[in-house]
Amino acid sequence: MANITNQPEWLDNAVFYEIYPQSFCDSNGDGIGDINGIISKLDYIKELGCNAIWMNPCFASPFGDAGYDVSDYYAVAPRYGTNEDIKRLFDEVHKRDMHLLLDLVPGHTSVEHKWFKESMKAERNEYTDRYVWTDSIWEEPQGMGCIRGISDRDGSCAVNFFSHQPALNYGFYKPDPDKKWQQSTDSEGAKATLEELKNIMRFWLKMGADGFRVDMAGSLVKHDEEGKGTIKLWQNVREFLDKEFPLAAMVSEWGEPDKSLQGGFHMDFLLHFGPSHYNDLFRCEEPFFSSRGKGDVSEFVKKYIENYEKSERKGLICIPSGNHDMDRLARSIKGDNLKIAFAFLLSMPGAPFIYYGDELGMNYVENLVSVEGGYGRTGSRSPMQWDDSVNDGFSSAPKEKLYIKMDDNADRPTAKSQIADECSLYNEVRKLISIRQKNSALQSKGEIEFVFAEKNEYPLCYLRSDDKQKILVVINPADKEVSFSCGYAPKEAIYSIGGDITADNGVLTVPPCFAGWYIL
Ligand code: NOJ
Ligand code: CA
Repeated sequence: MANITNQPEWLDNAVFYEIYPQSFCDSNGDGIGDINGIISKLDYIKELGCNAIWMNPCFASPFGDAGYDVSDYYAVAPRYGTNEDIKRLFDEVHKRDMHLLLDLVPGHTSVEHKWFKESMKAERNEYTDRYVWTDSIWEEPQGMGCIRGISDRDGSCAVNFFSHQPALNYGFYKPDPDKKWQQSTDSEGAKATLEELKNIMRFWLKMGADGFRVDMAGSLVKHDEEGKGTIKLWQNVREFLDKEFPLAAMVSEWGEPDKSLQGGFHMDFLLHFGPSHYNDLFRCEEPFFSSRGKGDVSEFVKKYIENYEKSERKGLICIPSGNHDMDRLARSIKGDNLKIAFAFLLSMPGAPFIYYGDELGMNYVENLVSVEGGYGRTGSRSPMQWDDSVNDGFSSAPKEKLYIKMDDNADRPTAKSQIADECSLYNEVRKLISIRQKNSALQSKGEIEFVFAEKNEYPLCYLRSDDKQKILVVINPADKEVSFSCGYAPKEAIYSIGGDITADNGVLTVPPCFAGWYIL
């Protein structure tokens, strides 16, 4: 069983907004979003109802992977502002009773990081063992890509993601005794890397960050298929946090909540890769949230229950509306089904994460040339559309200087137009968040029990409950009426879209394109 760490209380009703800093709001007209721009939009986020923020990496970087290739963990990238600016961001967030998680990238750096440059030198130095190097250029680290032929040092350096992201050394779970370069997790090099990671965390937490979303959290210890070494590493970090920053919140990009929670994370993401079946709902040929009604929710539910049981039936699995790595929700889900999808996302346990612009139904911008290692992800990272001014209010820069080209679809949404339209997706999401915030059973820690989730069938029905209330959620994205037998008799609807359900002798009949939350 997972060893669940005490949660910072604010996570109980946290609703997160993910900010991609380069695409959110440009305050100085250079075409790239920045921290002052974010500060100017905090009231917008608060007004939507979100009380927490995850901000993607904002540290110094050559931006070969949009900032997931850090060259200095202790400095804000000049294009976003200064360390003083981010300190002010923390203060402004806290003034509004909100919290902010930074994005911690512990597994790899940029090739331009000074530690890596030192580690490339032939003579031994403090950083020689900071990365995973073989001890001959002719030997590649098995099972990992590598960088070779660019250093005086005779060796190949393992990479974690792109070929310019060398893997930091946290050791191997079971080093092969015939391969001396595979260091153990308690070798001096691995220990020094871990201590440096704690220094980085300490630096930002002291300044006012409320915690971290951790990039590729499950990948630190090498050749660690079952994750045992990596879990132990995070338990060590947990001890440090418990001692120095017990209120810091930790959310992992891991996708295996039983492991990440054992490691002392508070919450884990349900991800678009691995066996989560998350994509069955939103991003596949026949998503469940489609009026065609040809999707299947059952495999997702099966996997969800498995994870839920393994994590002690606590609300610790976060289901995002999307993120900077996956297609925009609105690429495959249309019209009222976007509202229905949010009625699902905002009634599930764990903290919901709304990717900037998803509350407006922002488009995936097709056919863009890759920007900063985005490739197919670039279309989901286009600038936020604020209003009807130049560049939709994102930036005053000339068009050709914008970080990513704006969506130029004539019917693209903007925050301004959606705020003014009572029937907009924005107003629906706002309403859903405010109802969630008034009903504790719907929040992070309320229990969930699936009532109806059959193979290739609609609707989806589940019960959320805590010691104060029980709420039945019925979701039917399909364009046809459906009935199912249900042991619960819904009374008062606290939310509905698409009409109302009727109950007859334990059979509920659900209208087409419908979602409803009912107090029992
Ligand atoms: C996951 C991040 O979300 C993604 O954007 C990045 O490219 C990789 N990790 C590598 O850090
Ligand atoms: Ca700027």
